[in-house]
Amino acid sequence: MERRYLIRTFGCQMNEHDSERISGLLTAGGMTPTEDLDEAEVVVFNTCAIRENADNRLYGNLGHLKHLKAAHPDMRIVVAGCLAQKDQGAIQLRAPWVDVVVGTHALPQLLELLHRAEEDGPQMDVREYTEVFPSALPAARHDAFRAWVSIAPGCDNRCTFCIVPLVRGPQRSRSVGDVLAEVQMLARRGVVEVTLLGQNVNTFGRDLSIPESSRRPLFAELLRRVDEVEGIRRIRFTSPHPHDFTPDVIEAMAECDNVCEHIHFPMQSGSDRVLRAMQRSYRRDRYLGWLDRIREGVPGVGVSTDIIVGFPGETEKDFVDTLDVVERAGFDSAYTFQYSPRPGTRAASFEEQVPKEVVQERFERLVALQERISLERAREQVGRTFEVLVEGGDRKGRSAKSRTRTNRLVHLPGPFEPGTFTDAKITDAAPHHLSGEPLAPVSTAAAV
Ligand code: 5AD
Ligand code: SF4
Repeated sequence: MERRYLIRTFGCQMNEHDSERISGLLTAGGMTPTEDLDEAEVVVFNTCAIRENADNRLYGNLGHLKHLKAAHPDMRIVVAGCLAQKDQGAIQLRAPWVDVVVGTHALPQLLELLHRAEEDGPQMDVREYTEVFPSALPAARHDAFRAWVSIAPGCDNRCTFCIVPLVRGPQRSRSVGDVLAEVQMLARRGVVEVTLLGQNVNTFGRDLSIPESSRRPLFAELLRRVDEVEGIRRIRFTSPHPHDFTPDVIEAMAECDNVCEHIHFPMQSGSDRVLRAMQRSYRRDRYLGWLDRIREGVPGVGVSTDIIVGFPGETEKDFVDTLDVVERAGFDSAYTFQYSPRPGTRAASFEEQVPKEVVQERFERLVALQERISLERAREQVGRTFEVLVEGGDRKGRSAKSRTRTNRLVHLPGPFEPGTFTDAKITDAAPHHLSGEPLAPVSTAAAV
C-alpha cells in the first residue's frame, strides 16, 4: 500500500508556499496525500510563531497525536516552519514522540531526515542559512491555476514586536532570472495568477547586483518583467513596507496590465509614538500620504492592512489615533491582531504591557469600526461589473467563490470550475464578501 501524508499549515502565505514544497518532496518520495489523520503515515505541522496562540495550538495538536501514534507506531510526525526554527530542541524535549524537526532553512533535507529517523530515531535540522531556495524544490500545488512565488524570504528590519527576522533570517533576494524562469514554467503549466512573496517586497534586490552595473534590481522592474510573461493574467504581491515604498511601484501597478489593483499595506498603528516604539520608521501622515498617491495613481485600487492593538505602552490616546487613521484611510479590509509578546523580540521585554482586558476592549472597538467601513466600501461596489476569477466552490456545487482584481471576495451562484474567468455584476454586499451574478464565462485556465 502507498504511504500517505497529511500536512497542516499554519500562518502566512510564505508557509503555504513552503507547504507546497513539503508536499512536492513527499510526493517525489513516493507518497500520496490524504486528509484522513487515521491513514496518514507521515503527519507534518508547518508551524507559525508570529503570535503566542500558534505555540499553544502546536503543542495541543502534538498532544493529540501522541495517542494516535501509540496506536499506529509506524506514524512519523514532522514539525516544520517558524516554530521549529524558534523552539528547536525544546520541541522534542516537550514531545519526544516527534520524529523530525525541520527548520525554515532545512526543507531540502526533509526526505533525508525522515529516512534517518527510521534508522536512528528522532532527527532535527535547524541550520541557520538557506543553501537551496525552497522555490527550487518540487512543488505539489494546491491550485492548478494560481501559485505563490517567493522572491525574497527573510527580513532585515527589526520591528520590535516581530519574530520573523529571528526565524527566517536576513533577506535573500532571488535573481530576477530565477523568478522569471519560475513564472514562465508556471504559465506553461496553466497558472494564470501569481503572488510574489517577500517579507518586505520593496527591498527586493537590495542584496543583489546587476552584472557590469553599479545598480541593483528594483521591485518595480521585477513587476514589469513578470507582467511580460505570456499567459499570466493576474500578478499580486505581498507585502510592501510603508517605510521603503517608492513611487515607481505605483507607476508599475498603473502601467502593467496584469498587475492587480490591490495593495496590502501594513500600517500596524496610527499613533506616531507607538510606530516609533515599534521601530517602524514612517509616521501616520506619511502613511496616509502614500495611500493618497496610490489611490490617485491606481484608480479603484483595493487596500488592506494589518493593525496591532495593545502594543506595550499604547495609551487610550494612542489607540484613538489608530481609530482616527483607520477612519481616514477607509481600508477595504484589515487584519487586526492583539499584541502578543514573542520571546527574543525587543518589545517582549518592554515594561508597561497593556492589561489583557484593555487590549480586548480596544480590539473590539477597532473591529466594530472596521466592519462598518468594510461594509460601506463593499456597498459602493453594488451595481458594478468586475472580472472575477473563480477560486473554488462549496461541496454541493451550489455556489462558487471568486475574486476581483481588487481582491474582493465575490460569491456566485455555482457551479463553476476553479480557474474560470467571468464577468460578474455585483448584486449585494456584506463586510467580508460581495454577491454577484455571472455574465457569460470568459475563459478557463487550462490546467495541465
Ligand atoms: N503580536 C501581534 N501581532 C503581530 N504581528 C506580527 N508580530 C506580532 C505580535 N508579536 C502581526 C503584524 C504583521 C502580521 C503578519 O502579524 O501586524 O503585519
Ligand atoms: Fe516583521 Fe517588520 Fe520584517 Fe515585517 S518588516 S517581517 S513586521 S520585522
